[in-house]
Amino acid sequence: MNRVSVVTGGTSGIGQGIVEKLLAHSQAEDRIFVNYAHNEERAQEFLKNLPKEQRGKIILLKADMSSYEAMLSFVREIKAQTDHVDWLVSNVGMSTYAKYEDYTFEEWSRIVNTNLSVPVFLVKELRPVMTEGGSVLFMGSYAGQQAYSSSLVYGVTKAAIHFLTKSLVKEFEPKSITVNALAPGFIQTPWHADRSQESYDRINKKIALHRFGEIKDVADMAYSILTNGYMNGSIVDIHGGYDYF
Ligand SMILES: NC(=O)c1ccc[n+]([C@@H]2O[C@H](COP(=O)([O-])OP(=O)(O)OC[C@H]3O[C@@H](n4cnc5c(N)ncnc54)[C@H](OP(=O)(O)O)[C@@H]3O)[C@@H](O)[C@H]2O)c1
Repeated sequence: MNRVSVVTGGTSGIGQGIVEKLLAHSQAEDRIFVNYAHNEERAQEFLKNLPKEQRGKIILLKADMSSYEAMLSFVREIKAQTDHVDWLVSNVGMSTYAKYEDYTFEEWSRIVNTNLSVPVFLVKELRPVMTEGGSVLFMGSYAGQQAYSSSLVYGVTKAAIHFLTKSLVKEFEPKSITVNALAPGFIQTPWHADRSQESYDRINKKIALHRFGEIKDVADMAYSILTNGYMNGSIVDIHGGYDYF
């Protein structure tokens, strides 16, 4: 049977790195559903830049993962195109740098929906078509392990994702599907496009390796987890030695 993967937020940064890693190890009949929401041009560019023989394995699906209804349509489209999913990578996440005192309930809810609630139901909806022995991988964050984040809501939702990961192990036990999460520290992606040099310098001082991680570091780890049949309920930190000194 061909391998079918789903990667949310797969047209940039870590998600794109994971898609490219999956492609590099794919067979001719494998398929990857790659989701994005806003940047059509970047999504098309991503597809165009792939080697020609790989392009046909990608199914690009635009759907805003902050919306429950859009997520349901996304799932419907996947189910219309395949009868099984082997690997599900829930990667979409967002943050805010607003101060706690400036939080609005609307903004809090939007971030909780995107980072936690919609992923919960995405996994629930896809579970019935997931293959025995498959794998679910969540994108958590080291900001959900230690309360260092400048964004309170971000840290809280990522901590919840880590707990969700462990909680879902039991739910997936009947089909021997593994559920794990990655908890990256600071990874150089377009997410950090607006960061100042002063901010980079300040953060790099706290990292034992004194640099941000590369997308490849996380994508390689993601692939390792997806293909490791015995890793289950694990939260894997990857942060270059953050706050160790
Ligand atoms: N970079 C880091 O330092 C770091 C560290 C720890 C954890 N993480 C986590 O890693 C994940 C990816 O981060 P990244 O740095 O790779 O981000 P990124 O480079 O900004 O990429 C984000 C991807 O998600 C898509 N996306 C954003 N909002 C979406 C939505 N509502 N619905 C569907 N797709 C959406 C984007 O496409 P469109 O713009 O077209 O929607 C893009 O493909 C996030 O969960 C983040 O919390 C990142």
